[in-house]
Amino acid sequence: MRLLWISLLLSACSAKSASVVPDMGAAIHAIPVAAEPQRGGDSAAGYRALVNNGYVNCGIPYSLYAKVFGANAPAADQLPGRDGHNATLPFGQTAFTTKSGVEVVTANCLGCHAAKLGGTLVVGLGTTTQDFTQDPTSQLAFAATLITDAAEKAEFDRFAAHATTVGPYSTTLTIGVTAADNIAGILFAHRDPLTLAWSPTALLEPPPLYGVPVDVPPWWRMKKKNAMFYDGAGRGDHARIMMTASVLCTDSVAEAQEIDAYFGDVRAYITSLVPPVNATPIDATRAARGKSVFDATCASCHGSYGDGGSYPNLMIPVDEVGTDPVIGNGAAQFADRFVDWFGKSFYGQTARLEPRPAYYAPPLDGIWATAPYLHNGSVPSLAALLDSPSRPRYWRRRATDGLGNDYDPAIGGFAFDALDHGQDAEPDATARRRIYDTTKTAYGNGGHTFGDALSPEDRAAVLEYLKTL
Ligand code: HEC
Ligand code: HEC
Repeated sequence: MRLLWISLLLSACSAKSASVVPDMGAAIHAIPVAAEPQRGGDSAAGYRALVNNGYVNCGIPYSLYAKVFGANAPAADQLPGRDGHNATLPFGQTAFTTKSGVEVVTANCLGCHAAKLGGTLVVGLGTTTQDFTQDPTSQLAFAATLITDAAEKAEFDRFAAHATTVGPYSTTLTIGVTAADNIAGILFAHRDPLTLAWSPTALLEPPPLYGVPVDVPPWWRMKKKNAMFYDGAGRGDHARIMMTASVLCTDSVAEAQEIDAYFGDVRAYITSLVPPVNATPIDATRAARGKSVFDATCASCHGSYGDGGSYPNLMIPVDEVGTDPVIGNGAAQFADRFVDWFGKSFYGQTARLEPRPAYYAPPLDGIWATAPYLHNGSVPSLAALLDSPSRPRYWRRRATDGLGNDYDPAIGGFAFDALDHGQDAEPDATARRRIYDTTKTAYGNGGHTFGDALSPEDRAAVLEYLKTL
């Protein structure tokens, strides 16, 4: 499992305007995000590229992978439309042949951007079960001893050199969140922005070793969003920004250009996705009441849904939404030196990282399926999101099987237990990693109190309505 984890983490990713802003009262200064031109593309070709191509351009020799993990993943973990060995690999792994002729296995985007819900794999749903709590690079030395072929060894060593650099910067305190933004930062720090050549020593000050937790957002939001990321930093050519998630092993501009050539198609696929439909029973009368409360209380930021719906693309300053400030205030890949690096690099030719001290009010399509909530995944259910005093300080998801059969429509989230203690009071390391401890830096669950003033009936009605989106 550990090796899988290594290769998974390694692909991590990573308009100002003064136009008319809806009046939200004196306390809120919403920042509109303008649309920018995007590349077209062929979504079917994008899907094929996503699940077959070696855009994360290094990995573990296939022979080693097959020996350790077996060549055949369970059928429920396989995806259609995959070529060669990919047909039997798990959805988050891709096999491809490197220029030196070695077939390697690497992580693809779906290791983070696909997950099971009700036992079925949903492409585009963010993972909530990957374990990024440990730096696995100690396993690499052992893995190296299993390889005898010289060409395979050379590919493995290239992979291992990048992996050992990133490993210490990639860990989180709790299972389910990722340090994706930190991983992007450390990879930028080790590359020359002009040539993309890898440097064994950091060329910029690395991000702090403390991985800032980020909950993986669902891909179907990109149909509506004018900028990428929770802090709206991803501006300009979105396809170009999406491909930075392959920066682990893209060692030259020529390699980046090859990947870029099909990322318009990948973006077309991502923006074609729609959320899964909630099959649990809905109380239609209550949901109808919820819609009118939502339209009066929430739609100014999150938009309206159904016929004639619209989405305003607004960001809300960190202080005003009041949620955990660490990412919004420029941590990890959003620190100034990485924003500068991006601007000078191949990626910056058509795109910009332009973080604001603010959080995007996201489209809420399929929100029922995307627990836990907020950018750091600190709130386990919609019921708790809508009633901030009820949010658990310490909590743990009950199920550990990753199948997503634990969705509880009564709370709008996965079944969880509130705990009486945090990570520091938990002596058992395995149990500790499962605790979401909101007292830790960047894991805070405060803010977004917009549901607090609702009556219990209105709050229940809004919850019912959110389950229909
Ligand atoms: C290690 C996990 C991980 C991997 C692997 C990964 N991502 Fe992400 N992705 C994230 C996280 C976490 C975010 C949110 C980051 C933020 O907003 O600060 C994100 C954000 C995004 C977004 C923006 C979504 C939004 O609502 O703004 C897109 C699009 C995206 N990723 C595409 C990709 C593509 C394409 C790949 C593969 C080339 C990829 N990602 C690989 C974790 C990952
Ligand atoms: C003033 C603007 C504003 C209003 C009003 C508002 N929200 Fe939000 N909402 C936000 C922002 C900004 C975020 C992102 C905060 C973060 O991730 O830290 C957010 C996040 C959310 C999320 C979590 C999304 C996710 O990906 O985890 C949900 C659910 C949500 N809001 C529902 C509501 C509901 C329901 C209402 C009305 C009761 C409401 N919001 C009112 C701005 C607003």
